[in-house]
Amino acid sequence: MARVIRSRRSIRHYRPDPVAAPLLRELTDLALEAPSSFNLQARSIVTVTGEEGLRALTEATGGQPHPQEAPVMLVFVAESGAWREDRGDVWDVARGRGAWSERFAAASPDDARLFHEDLRSRGLDREYAVKDAMIAASFLMIAAEAAGLATSPMNGWSEDEVKKAIGVAGRDDLHIALLMPLGHPAEDRLHPGRRDRALSCFSETYGR
Ligand SMILES: Cc1cc2nc3c(=O)[nH]c(=O)nc-3n(C[C@H](O)[C@H](O)[C@H](O)COP(=O)(O)O)c2cc1C
Repeated sequence: MARVIRSRRSIRHYRPDPVAAPLLRELTDLALEAPSSFNLQARSIVTVTGEEGLRALTEATGGQPHPQEAPVMLVFVAESGAWREDRGDVWDVARGRGAWSERFAAASPDDARLFHEDLRSRGLDREYAVKDAMIAASFLMIAAEAAGLATSPMNGWSEDEVKKAIGVAGRDDLHIALLMPLGHPAEDRLHPGRRDRALSCFSETYGR
């Protein structure tokens, strides 16, 4: 695990070789194993492999090389309205598996609603859904590295254009958290390094 995490790099150039469908499915399944607030799973992954979709994402990213070259683009979507939807399946599955007690599962819908109403009143609902999406994206990057594939997280896109490309233009309950090319690397990249641990890792209180 340590080797996989340390050897992952953000790769900008990709070979055109496709990613086999069963592997792509396995990687997205692993991403969906990521934890989420209340287990509400307020995130989705849209896998884009078609020419038209990749072209639209290339335009949405201002011509960065990744979507032009990678055979797969993954769009991580944050669903800030998830708590308002019927997530009965989530509570039922957790209860059915014996993972959550009857009492906990019964209280969860109200607990989740109250929590999210408060978030919404403070303008934080988008931010919280983005957390779920970003953790899923992190799981996918690690899983892809373990499978010998490359990825790169991507900022730098027009949210409206990405939404249009994946068929959700105008949906203000959905937000683009991250774009991620996935494929076989066509370059080696050196580790750009990290700041000294003492600047980023503290004990007991921030800054010490
Ligand atoms: C949220 C986020 C957005 C990023 N956006 C881009 C991007 O738009 N284009 C790009 O080439 N790299 C992007 N990167 C990759 C970073 O430049 C890269 O992670 C950083 O330089 C460290 O390199 P490493 O990932 O190889 O360790 C992004 C990384 C993160 C975490």
